[in-house]
Amino acid sequence: MLTAADNELLTRTGAQTPMGQYFRRFWQPVALSRELAENDGAPLRVNIMGENLVAFRNSEGVVGLTDSRCPHRGANLYFGRNENCAIRCVFHGWKFDLQGRPLELPNVPPGSAYHQTIRLKAYPTREYGDIVWAYMGPDPWDRALPEVPELEFGTLPASHRYVTKKLQECNWAQSIEGALDTSHFSFLHMPATGVPSNANPDAPADEKRLRWIRDDPLPRFSILEHEVGFVVGGARRAEGDSRYWRSAQFALPAHSTTPSTLPGETHFGYTWVPIDDVNCWIYTYAWNPDRPLSDEEIHKFKGGHGVIAEVDEKFIPIRNRSNEYLIDREHQKHISYTGVRGVAEQDAMIQDSQGRIADRTQEHLSPSDAAVVRFRRAVLAGAKALATGIEPQAPLRHAAYRLRSGSWFAAEGVSFEQVMLERFGDPVGRITATPAVLAAQ
Ligand code: FES
Ligand SMILES: [Fe+2]
Repeated sequence: MLTAADNELLTRTGAQTPMGQYFRRFWQPVALSRELAENDGAPLRVNIMGENLVAFRNSEGVVGLTDSRCPHRGANLYFGRNENCAIRCVFHGWKFDLQGRPLELPNVPPGSAYHQTIRLKAYPTREYGDIVWAYMGPDPWDRALPEVPELEFGTLPASHRYVTKKLQECNWAQSIEGALDTSHFSFLHMPATGVPSNANPDAPADEKRLRWIRDDPLPRFSILEHEVGFVVGGARRAEGDSRYWRSAQFALPAHSTTPSTLPGETHFGYTWVPIDDVNCWIYTYAWNPDRPLSDEEIHKFKGGHGVIAEVDEKFIPIRNRSNEYLIDREHQKHISYTGVRGVAEQDAMIQDSQGRIADRTQEHLSPSDAAVVRFRRAVLAGAKALATGIEPQAPLRHAAYRLRSGSWFAAEGVSFEQVMLERFGDPVGRITATPAVLAAQ
């Protein structure tokens, strides 16, 4: 449970809010690189943390990101011309470079102070892992910036990953809480009561794993902190005395990885980016450090599979809030727990259903919410510290974002730290060895 004040603090990310200030200390995804496919191509609307911006790939292939509002009289630069390394407002021809400096103000007399004082708000960008990232913190053009977080999928050749995004129609924080709470898998993603455990074709695990998850709705959770967040492990009873462990990473301010992956399998992760306080983008990525993704996998992901939602050309899920996720009540009665197709869609339905902004003053948490509590504590502490002038350190530790999570088996009594060490060669899942594909380059 949170106080009303902390719930406000956690969920609001506008530019003047403490959490908004905190988020702006970290690089944020603002578009997929493929949404800006062409140099001098059409600008793209970008709405992020309550700011309305425009992105454009300039003549040299660099992505610009500026306020959508022209400083002259407020015309929208989305309708502007992307020309000759600059964006030009088509109302009266004011033209700006990537840093928002005016290059031409045709209706302003030469010698006017406007040439020195007018500035269009603009943010630096980088491309990493087929995503355009922006730095929206203070003085972004006048100082050395941190590096983009080195999430593993971005370190690999493009053939080893699939990157997409989807709209989620609720506040960012309850959505990431849904991902960190891995105990819900025992219900939300399961077949209907009485239906065999292998009957959910969307669940990314085999029959045994599903059975263990289903039969033990009370996993024992352990949490290990690291430089940029924490890893949470949940242990369930498996065959005999052994324990089936599932681990998920949380990295500040809003990244996570999924818990099912066994060695050799494809990994999945997400990054949440608030659009405003009641909508967010979930950037979703699949990657395999050991091999390129197969055509069959890519084909499946494009059509929605597992934690990757089926989306339209604007990345809006086909099954969404407006059509009640195409819930099928007969299916819910006889086949699946939810009656909704797709793990991602099942998650979306239930997270949206908590309200546009979940009211955390009314909840009753249980031991299975350990990671949810730790997540809140971490981001609230970061935002509150920044409000008193203490800058977060995680944005400076880009290399510490190379993290993995997944499943493993151990005898009863083995600690989570030991499980992580055996599974990943590191007690919190840091990537310590260079993947073979990179070592060979
Ligand atoms: S409103 Fe943009 S140049 Fe006049
Ligand atoms: Fe889920």
